[in-house]
Amino acid sequence: MLTSSLLLLASLGTGLAQAQLTLDDLYLNNAPSSPRPYVIPHYANSHAVTIDSQLYRFTVTGPSSGYAFTLMSTNAPSSGSLGVLPHIHRKHYENFFSFKGRFQLWAQKGDNEQQAQILDPDTEMVGVIVPGGFDVTGTFSMPSAQTIPLEQTLRTFLNQPIAPPRPAQELPQSLLDFNPRRDLINGTAPVGDSDWHTAANDLGTPGQPYFIANGYGPKYLNSQHGYQIVQPLVSPKLAQDTNYTLSTLTISRQTKDNPPQWNLAGAAAVEVLEGVLSIKIGDYPVAQLNMGDVAFIPAHVSFTYYCEAAFTKVLYVRSGTKGVDQQLICGGMSWDFVTFPKY
Ligand SMILES: *[C@@H]1O[C@H](CO)[C@@H](O)[C@H](O)[C@H]1NC(C)=O
Ligand SMILES: *[C@@H]1O[C@H](CO)[C@@H](O)[C@H](O)[C@H]1NC(C)=O
Repeated sequence: MLTSSLLLLASLGTGLAQAQLTLDDLYLNNAPSSPRPYVIPHYANSHAVTIDSQLYRFTVTGPSSGYAFTLMSTNAPSSGSLGVLPHIHRKHYENFFSFKGRFQLWAQKGDNEQQAQILDPDTEMVGVIVPGGFDVTGTFSMPSAQTIPLEQTLRTFLNQPIAPPRPAQELPQSLLDFNPRRDLINGTAPVGDSDWHTAANDLGTPGQPYFIANGYGPKYLNSQHGYQIVQPLVSPKLAQDTNYTLSTLTISRQTKDNPPQWNLAGAAAVEVLEGVLSIKIGDYPVAQLNMGDVAFIPAHVSFTYYCEAAFTKVLYVRSGTKGVDQQLICGGMSWDFVTFPKY
């Protein structure tokens, strides 16, 4: 009798512990030091660092994603000068996404990459770096797991891109003397026939920088649960050595009855670009994410999502090559439009 009531108490205890998970437990101000489900609201502190007039926030860090990827945002006023000096990434893939406003980014073929100048007052640039962590100066590789204070990292990254030690042959004089092109026509410094904002943009070739204008890349329509349009920005074959994908998902209003349950081998994050996303991660209650809010889903944690707004669009980053985006593409069809059919 005693034993069974103890057992009963024990099982009640477990039940209570789970039932007690609240949205307050899910919502954080800063990315945690190891992977767990979390949501960071737009403009939360997110390890904010100010460098001159640029404000960097880190919603997913190396440690918080198990070094799968970093998700960051940069807010800055318009400026005529380069925000970041020319540099090279040896190991990391860096993706720039215009969340709002306008910025200019210079990328050269080969190893040299230069960025970025902020053009409009209310600009927010979202960056995805894979694998997680920062490869500090870009001129020499640093293990992504190495801990260095973030601000120091960024200062090094931003101000001393050509820091020693480095083999002398690695940075050509042309990079040190870099003077970006300013002969922009229709928003691009054209090389040959430019299709920037005038024609379809494909996903490029592995190892080369490429640009996709908003809405001009490939699109796929999935109709398995409401309508979802996947616009891949990084496909599995483009990032074979780093093993990740990046896409936007545009989602129609859906019924909240039995949304598909996902449980995937790789970590993922979503950032809402437009509309409202309802997401349930593990045993936490359903969270409603608005524009700029970020949710992180660790590997092997089940989640569901649905949208009650008529039109919701999110940026989706996923470690591995079989994420929600790729599975929706597999179950969908090629599609020419950024919106879904009438429903
Ligand atoms: C710039 O855009 C306009 C309008 O789309 C087009 O007519 C013109 O040919 C473009 N110029 C160049 C150099 O691409
Ligand atoms: C790619 O990532 C997935 C998810 O993180 C992982 O399960 C898989 O083993 C990785 N594959 C390679 C080749 O690293």
